[in-house]
Amino acid sequence: MTSDIERAVGVLRAGGLVALPTETVYGLGANAEDSTAVARIFQVKGRPSSHPLIVHIGSARHLDDWVEEVPATGRLLAERFWPGPMTLVLRRGHRVPLEATGGLETVAVRVPDHPVALGLLSVFGGGVTAPSANRFGSVSPTTADHVRAELGDAVDFVLDGGRCEVGVESTIVDVTGGAPTVLRPGGVTREDLETVLGRPVAVSDTSGVRVPGQHPSHYAPRARVVLADPERVVAEAELAQELGHQVGVLLPASLATTPVKAHAVVALPPSMGAYARGLYGFLRGLDRQGCDLIVASLPVEEGLGLAIANRLRRAAGPRPSA
Ligand code: TXA
Ligand code: MG
Repeated sequence: MTSDIERAVGVLRAGGLVALPTETVYGLGANAEDSTAVARIFQVKGRPSSHPLIVHIGSARHLDDWVEEVPATGRLLAERFWPGPMTLVLRRGHRVPLEATGGLETVAVRVPDHPVALGLLSVFGGGVTAPSANRFGSVSPTTADHVRAELGDAVDFVLDGGRCEVGVESTIVDVTGGAPTVLRPGGVTREDLETVLGRPVAVSDTSGVRVPGQHPSHYAPRARVVLADPERVVAEAELAQELGHQVGVLLPASLATTPVKAHAVVALPPSMGAYARGLYGFLRGLDRQGCDLIVASLPVEEGLGLAIANRLRRAAGPRPSA
């Protein structure tokens, strides 16, 4: 692994792109200070250049190198949740090129909690900008194989760190205003944030997207996604299958032994942690099995269920017309 990390650092220093494991999802990384390399990320992902990226750093101690100022709430959250699945939005420091922030004067920063990512950042010494290592709008990768299947040769090196433990992206918290606001729910729950801050935290309904013109559909498999409350999942799935769809089902754990007339069935794990960890793999698996419609059981929107429901709603959002 050490030599893999050294090789990855070499690629970053040469202006290349490295797919790197984090505890949430795999990222498509470039040297944050190399605007040409950063521009290539947008090209490879097919992502609009106005859509800002996250700068990954090796330690909360380095935060001040990348941002203009850190308000007390930001400092507290960084101390409490880093390394971990939380991203802070702060005022951009001079080291961060505008290419990385989509032209914004704010920057998103996080310290990932993955030994391979931390090893890479420590040897590299700088910051690594990395969006999720998938094509724009599609399902995020949670294994190195997902990355290879989706990006292939477009990425210069894939650093394999096994399967991502959290499985959904980081929680994005904007601390540039008065009260901290969650722009995207994720691996650190709203309840965790509220406990540490000692006050209610608002979740903005824009799903972390501050950028105009972004399409509501995101995190989406090829198959169309339909959401249903747990008690409606079987009926919805069987109706769609009868209508001629190849239906994939994300079946609530409470119904795991219920037979369902559908093309493919995934019995969801009972814990929200395991649902989050498996979510993107389940969606990819149902695509692979040829499903054209996925009926997904919507979890209760608390704890990690908030992030899972957010991703499922976005996956079910209207698609761009081809
Ligand atoms: O868990 C994660 O956050 C993963 C891993 C690889 O770290 N990364 C990730 O990156 O999910 P990406 O690019 O797929 O999503 C980053 C999100 C976008 O929705 C973007 O709009 C938001 O962060 N973002 C970045 N900079 C921002 C800023 N300055 N203000 C508001 N939102 C920002
Ligand atoms: Mg993404």
